This record gives sequence, C-alpha cells and structure tokens, in this order.
Amino acid sequence: MTDASHPNAAVLGVGAYRPRRTVSNDEVCALIDSTDEWIQTRSGIVTRGWADDDETIELMATAAANEALASAGIDAGSLGMVLVASCSDGQPVWTLSTRVAAGLGTLAPALEINATCAGFCYGLGIARDLVRGGTADYVLVAGAERMTDIIDMADRGTSFIFADGAGAFVVGRSEHEGLGPVVWGSDGDRGEALTLAPDWTEYRKDPGLGPPSVSMQGRRIFKWAAEQMPPVAEAACKAAGIAVGDIDVLVPHQANQRITEAIIRALGLPDSVVVADDVIRSGNTSSASIPLATHRLLAEGRARSGDVALLLGFGGGLAYAAQVVTLP
Ligand code: UT7
Repeated sequence: MTDASHPNAAVLGVGAYRPRRTVSNDEVCALIDSTDEWIQTRSGIVTRGWADDDETIELMATAAANEALASAGIDAGSLGMVLVASCSDGQPVWTLSTRVAAGLGTLAPALEINATCAGFCYGLGIARDLVRGGTADYVLVAGAERMTDIIDMADRGTSFIFADGAGAFVVGRSEHEGLGPVVWGSDGDRGEALTLAPDWTEYRKDPGLGPPSVSMQGRRIFKWAAEQMPPVAEAACKAAGIAVGDIDVLVPHQANQRITEAIIRALGLPDSVVVADDVIRSGNTSSASIPLATHRLLAEGRARSGDVALLLGFGGGLAYAAQVVTLP
C-alpha cells in the first residue's frame, strides 16, 4: 500500500565483483592438512575466489556498486547514502564507504556497517528505512570482503572456507513495496565462537602474538545457525505478510552448504524453491555472500525479475538479519 508519508522501497539493481583467481581445494590442501573430499563433504565448497593484491577491497566494492547502479539505471549522483558492510577492511578510519563513494564519483554520505556475515542484510534494513523515511531516494548497499587478509592460511579451521569478493544492491523509491521489514538481532554472549585473535589492541601491545586472524569454533556456529535461523526466516516472511511457502527463492548467507540444507529441511521448503548455492564455487565471502549469490542466480536465469526472495544473513557477533525482497 502506498502511503505518501512512507514511500515504498524496493531493490532496483544488483551488481557483483568476483576475484580473477579461482582456487581449488587441492591448492588449499597444499597449505593445510586436509583433503578435497573432506572439504566438499563438510562444507560443499569446491572452489573459492582469492583476490590478488591489485584487487583491493574498494576496487571490488566499487565495481559491484557500478554494476548495481547501471542495472538500476541510476546515476551515482542520485545516491542519498552509500552503505558498505565489511568485517575485513584494514583501514577503518579512512572508511571503506567513503573510498567507495569517491570511486563512484559521489559526495553522498557514506557509512560503514559491520555485522560480519549479516552486515549486508543490516544494510538493506537501514536502506529501507532511509527511503521510507524520506531521507534518501536511492541508497547503495554493498558487502565487500578480502577475508584472505584476516585469515591464517595455515589454520585448517578457516582457510578452506573463507574467500574474497563484493556484491551490491541499489535500493530506492518504488511504486510497489519490494523490500520487506527486516527481522534482526544479536546474541553477544555467544560471540566468542567467532573472533579476531589476537585482537588489534592485544597485537599492538605484544606483536609476538602474531597478526590478528579469524578464529572460529565452526561446530558451535553451525549448530546456532541451523537451530536459530529457521524461526528468523519464518518471522521475516510473516513481517512481509507472506508464508514461507510463498517464497520463490531462498538466499541464505553462503557459510556452508550443509547449513543451507539444514535450513531448507527445517523450513520444509519444496523442491520448487530455488536455493542459492554460490558457496560451492565462491566459498564463504562473509558480508558479500548474499548479494554475490543473488547476482549469480539472476545471471544464470535460475531466479527471475519479480521472484520473491528471502534473504537470511547470520554470523559473527553473533548477529543475524533477514528480509523478503522482490528481485529486480
Ligand atoms: O560465516 C559465518 C560463520 N561461519 C560459519 O557459519 C561456519 C560454520 N561452521 C562450519 O561450516 C563447519 O563447522 C566447518 C565446515 C567449519 C567444519 O565442519 P564440522 O563438520 O563442524 O567439522 P569439525 O570442526 O567438527 O571437525 C570434525 C573433524 C575434527 O576431527 P575429530 O576431532 O573428529 O578427529 C577436526 O579436527 O574434522 C577435523 N578437521 C579437519 N579435517 C580435515 C577440522 N578441520 C579440518 C580440515 N580438514 N580442514
């Protein structure tokens, strides 16, 4: 329903940047004690993208953003906000969002969001309110990661799973409501399951600790996601005024194909629902995974304009966010 005081918001365009270099499980196994079979069985991952040095995080985010703007038919000068979700950028003072805005050629306000793997869906939730509240006509929401910058390549608990890339949506005013209310939350008491260790303060006090790297208790996060995310998915559908059975497409955070399968089972989704499986080829790109997976589904024709998609982000914090969108 259109309400003059609350204009409708919708996703208008999608963009992606995938690193040039595709890395096989065998290549990763040269760095850790593992096998291609173990990695595929436990995570579903067959390949992932690892960025070269010249594929900087702002280069990837700006490229994804430019594609999203072009597909939306929106000029960067029309943006009322640039939101960039990331947990791996090494320059949090000269923020990634301002670097991306500059790369796009806009002086729009720019804000970083860090809710790790849920960050992109947090950004969509904020973008929706900015548009509906009349603060911005168009908002760029990107997720961009160089996870390889914060991974210990010799850590067999993380190096096979995480990867690099960027994805972006343009959110804007629309005749029809195409972006549902966000359902989000956090559980910081369980956050120790995924941390940077040592943290930067500890490392500055004692460089002998070695550089900060992602430390993950994978099984704990797996269990949390598989058990706690299906009710979040249901709540996001309810908030959008639909039943889970009404969705055409599910795009969960691309953490692990087995987590996706557990969520499909818990929700009782029929085979007719298209489910993103980009983790198989792209690995876990944290905040970039949902726009990257959405982009692949659209590019391959597995999802179509007008399809109703449920986006479900979850990860470090622990934090989560979900919403229903109509694909552009
Ligand atoms: O992005 C958001 C946050 N992250 C996630 O959502 C990731 C969630 N977790 C996961 O995806 C999974 O927990 C992993 C894929 C990371 C690990 O799979 P798992 O089935 O939970 O394995 P596990 O950690 O319970 O380890 C099982 C066994 C252990 O050996 P024992 O104790 O059974 O003898 C590990 O030592 O596998 C061993 N192991 C490995 N073996 C070969 C652990 N890592 C590896 C490895 N290669 N890379």
